[in-house]
Amino acid sequence: MRKRLRLRRDASMTLLLGASLGLLLYTQRDGAAPTTSLSPAPGLATQRPTPGPRKFQAPDVAPPAYEGDTPVPPTPPGPFDFGRYLRAKDQRRFALLINQPHKCRGPQPDLLIAVKSVAADFERRQAVRQTWGAEGRVQGALVRRVFLLGVPRAAGTDRGDSEGPSTPTHWRALLRAESLVYGDILLWAFDDTFFNLTLKEIHFLNWASAFCPEARFIFKGDADVFVHLGNLLEFLAPRDPTQDLLAGDVIVQARPIRARASKYYIPEAVYGLPAYPAYAGGGGFVLSRATLRRLAAACAQVELFPIDDVFLGMCLQRLRLTPEPHSAFRTFGISQPSAAPHLRTFDPCFYRELVLVHGLSASDIWLMWHLLHRPHGPVCAHPQPVAAVPFQWSS
Ligand SMILES: *[C@@H]1O[C@H](CO)[C@@H](O)[C@H](O)[C@H]1NC(C)=O
Repeated sequence: MRKRLRLRRDASMTLLLGASLGLLLYTQRDGAAPTTSLSPAPGLATQRPTPGPRKFQAPDVAPPAYEGDTPVPPTPPGPFDFGRYLRAKDQRRFALLINQPHKCRGPQPDLLIAVKSVAADFERRQAVRQTWGAEGRVQGALVRRVFLLGVPRAAGTDRGDSEGPSTPTHWRALLRAESLVYGDILLWAFDDTFFNLTLKEIHFLNWASAFCPEARFIFKGDADVFVHLGNLLEFLAPRDPTQDLLAGDVIVQARPIRARASKYYIPEAVYGLPAYPAYAGGGGFVLSRATLRRLAAACAQVELFPIDDVFLGMCLQRLRLTPEPHSAFRTFGISQPSAAPHLRTFDPCFYRELVLVHGLSASDIWLMWHLLHRPHGPVCAHPQPVAAVPFQWSS
């Protein structure tokens, strides 16, 4: 009886949280209007290494045009103030406002999932919680999850001084409540902006080294990805967590963008070399326990760089570690989530061979997960599997 009461209370709490966040989202829609169209890569003319024989061919069409419902950290309008960035660069330690100190107590997780999120994106966090990011045992592996957040910039406040007086304090209260219910929120005291994602990166690496050092593997990704956890776990099963591993969608020889108008503009004074070190696209990558420790230490030695994936590449370079390309990680350039682009339908048969697909809405994530997890397996929209031969991990 009491249990049922508690359950009911939990349910109404969730409902309440969802409703209030939804309302907030709605009211802030026009004011905040965070930039949606993250162009895929910070570099021009990127080249992808071709990792071995391709086992399947993805359809080559334009990325899906989802309605602008992808809240990403807002970018400051107008040119990026590098002078200011460089002056503030030495401040790279911010307080942890909401912690999950017991996340990895007890049996050590086989996989810790860390998802970059922003406060307003409650809906996608819910989708991730209920689908690929669910905690517990998956194919025998113990999975734990955290979301990584900074302090939301107030909608409609004047840019410039970041501590705008109208920063809504209720965000903090809502996140605290969410943390109480789900136990998966990590909130740091820096502004949650696009150019502060590097801070998120280093704070997470430090947090995981301190609070979850025994997790065998760590997956870090965006909230708008779909991860085929079964495939990921299969990929990791033969790996040794005490050996170095960082695998994902590896981008090599990306050239810094020198056009001032670009969001990814990097002046030569900030980065003089003609190409960035190899890095894994930030949509999602996986690393071993050994690499986590070394990476956290290496990044502490690297000067902050405003593009987080490239920054991580710089840390890897310092370790002389080459990220491992894997063709099933599609952090961008995945086309329609369907093998029949003109139909605009989901084809789970396409997804079942991948580890990660980028650029999905909350409902896409939910739908794809449920299509893939039907009791008798996915119903394929086309009679032939995408791959002519059964997909196998080439490692
Ligand atoms: C990063 O966060 C800090 C602390 O909140 C803030 O002062 C700074 O302006 C932010 N930097 C960028 C580039 O948004």
